[in-house]
Amino acid sequence: PRYFALIPAAGVGARMAADGPKQYIDIGGKPMLRHTIDAFLSSALISHTYVVVSAHDGQIDAVVPPGAVTVLRCGGASRLASVQNALRALAGELGEFDWVLVHDAARPGLNAALIAKLIDAVGNDAVGGLLALPVVDTVKRASMAAGANVPAATSSVARDGLWLAQTPQMFRYRLLCDALAAATDASVITDDASAIEAMGFAPRLVEGHPRNLKVTLPADIRIAEMYLAAP
Ligand code: CTP
Ligand code: MG
Repeated sequence: PRYFALIPAAGVGARMAADGPKQYIDIGGKPMLRHTIDAFLSSALISHTYVVVSAHDGQIDAVVPPGAVTVLRCGGASRLASVQNALRALAGELGEFDWVLVHDAARPGLNAALIAKLIDAVGNDAVGGLLALPVVDTVKRASMAAGANVPAATSSVARDGLWLAQTPQMFRYRLLCDALAAATDASVITDDASAIEAMGFAPRLVEGHPRNLKVTLPADIRIAEMYLAAP
C-alpha cells in the first residue's frame, strides 16, 4: 500500500495571537511548518506529502522545500473544510485504498519514529487509527453558576479509558472522504477520527509521545523548541 501525508496548514492561530498564522512562527531557526514537513520527508514510508493552505497565504512558498512537497491552496474556514477540500483536489492522484496520514501543521515535534510506529500498528487494519496519549490528569466536569466568577466542578470523569487525540490520523482515502462528507458540524468534528467514529467505525489508538504536542498557546512554543533541540 501507499502512504500519503496531508498537512492542514490553513488556520489563523487565533489562540496563539501572534503577528501572523502560528505555523510560520520560528522554532529554533526554522518555521514551525517546516519542522512538520521535514518529519514526513525524513520518513522512507511516505510516498508524497501535501500541504493545504488558504488561497491568500503569502508565506508558504518561502517555507516549502522546492519540488519535495505539493502545496494545495484550497484551505477552508475550518480544519474539517480544509481537509475536505484537499482530499477532493487529490481525487485524480490517490486511489481509494491509499492511506492518508492527516497531520496538523501545528505539531512540529512529529518524527520518523512516530510515523513508523503508527503505520506499523495500523497499516494492515481495516479502518485505521491515530496517535493518542492516555489522559494522566484528573478530569473535571464543570458548570458556570449564574453570577459566579469561575466555573465549579460538578463531578470528576474517570480517566480510565480516556485518551487525548494527536495526529497523524491515518485512514484509507475513500473511507476518509466519505466520513468527512457525512460530517456536518465542524465544531463537533474537530479531527478526522471523530468523523470515522460517527460512521460507526472504531479507529485504533496508538500511543504517541508528548513531543508531538499541538502548539496552541504561546507557552507551547518553548516546549516544542525544547523537544526539537534534543531529538
Ligand atoms: N487548520 C486548517 N484550516 C482551518 C483551521 C485549522 O488547515 N480553517 C489547521 C491548522 O493550520 C492547524 C491544524 O488545522 O495546523 C489544527 O488546528 P488548530 O491548532 O486549531 O490551529 P488554528 O485553527 O490555526 O488555531 P486557532 O484554533 O487557535 O485559531
Ligand atoms: Mg483551530
